[in-house]
Amino acid sequence: MNVLLIGGGGREHALAWKLAQSPVLGRLYCAPGNAGIADVAELAGLDVSDHAAVAAFCTDKQIGLVVVGPEAPLVAGLADDLESAGIPVFGPSKAASALEGSKGYTKDLCAEYGIPTAAYGRFTGAASAKSYLSGQALPIVIKADGLAAGKGVVIAETHAEAEDAIKACFQGAFGEAGAEVVIEEFLTGEEASFFALVDGETALPLATAQDHKRAYDGDQGPNTGGMGAYSPAPLMTPDLCARVMDEIVLPTVKAMKARGTPFKGVLYAGLMIQDGAPKLIEYNVRFGDPEAQVLMMRLKSDLLPALLGTAQGRLGGMTLAWHEDAALCVVMAAEGYPGAYEKGTEIKGLDAASVEDDAVVFHAGTVRDGNRILATGGRVLGVTARGADIAQAQARAYAVVDTIDWPGGFCRRDIGWRAVNRGT
Ligand code: AMP
Ligand code: GLY
Repeated sequence: MNVLLIGGGGREHALAWKLAQSPVLGRLYCAPGNAGIADVAELAGLDVSDHAAVAAFCTDKQIGLVVVGPEAPLVAGLADDLESAGIPVFGPSKAASALEGSKGYTKDLCAEYGIPTAAYGRFTGAASAKSYLSGQALPIVIKADGLAAGKGVVIAETHAEAEDAIKACFQGAFGEAGAEVVIEEFLTGEEASFFALVDGETALPLATAQDHKRAYDGDQGPNTGGMGAYSPAPLMTPDLCARVMDEIVLPTVKAMKARGTPFKGVLYAGLMIQDGAPKLIEYNVRFGDPEAQVLMMRLKSDLLPALLGTAQGRLGGMTLAWHEDAALCVVMAAEGYPGAYEKGTEIKGLDAASVEDDAVVFHAGTVRDGNRILATGGRVLGVTARGADIAQAQARAYAVVDTIDWPGGFCRRDIGWRAVNRGT
């Protein structure tokens, strides 16, 4: 079967790397891809926002499955348009993508179905938002309702800060995404990511993972898309995973079906765990980045039949096998990220780095320029290794990081510290 993968980040390189190992794969195409993906897939120069062009490409190349990596094309309705053209898609419809595309939508769904989450209010104007705010405890969380590339969340320590965040949203700091504001109770505890494949009706949980969102060591500094990840997440005990399925994921799957907008794809629940109890912080309708990198390294089963089964409503009875080993990913980012950073700096030493056993350097923001690999994005590489436990995976990943010669980049040196401290 021929597959078209949409996206060009580290998550997509990990998916491409795993799909390329499938015995049932014919040709793998990727749009737009990156320099690392080009080693395992043919890059297609497609405008992903032109759905008719994507459908025509699929017909021309006899694509049997389209796998959509990022959320934006899903929220824009790419899955709907391809499915109308008879092409199976791994990824939810536009309507079901509201679970990520509108924070208010998800909060209302949680309220209606009794799914545990932070208390909240939804507002379309600054006056009502501010009057709600006055009765709330601090810190308080202000969120733009729509997609804001991870930048639409402010944790305000004072009412003045909260009011500024509300004002910025309604003044257009996040464009259309900020036309509505969600104000949320601040949750405390430890965060974890939970992933399940969902085919509209059935949900199949994946291995557990945890990421590090802050830019600097010790989980300090600004929020980012994720500076590293590891799997398994020792915090997520089997009992806790069962609770997340029963209290959060399965009620959501049922709700989406009942609303006539069944969810299909991968449901990514961002959780806060407090005193052993899970609460939903937010949903994403795609794999996490860099969580996908560690999950793909640990997945023993063939990914392609699982994604196709998800797309075609055939998950029932399917199982997935995982390597017992742990996996850990260290993100190397351009100096300055998540703020302004330079583009086009050269990365050397990648050939030596990629010969390690049980270690893969996934590319995120890279391009090839002749024999040189240049950094083009904020998050640029995801150095991922397996080991008997998190500590060993961590040591292997950093050993590879240290062979990469990239003066324009930086990484955290403590990815996995919580798990290592727990002795797992
Ligand atoms: P989100 O984009 O909704 O995932 O939010 C980004 C990050 O902000 C999360 O990963 C949390 O670290 C933090 N966050 C969001 N909502 C809350 C909340 N209600 N309480 C505490 N932290 C939150
Ligand atoms: N690692 C966080 C995300 O993918 O949103």
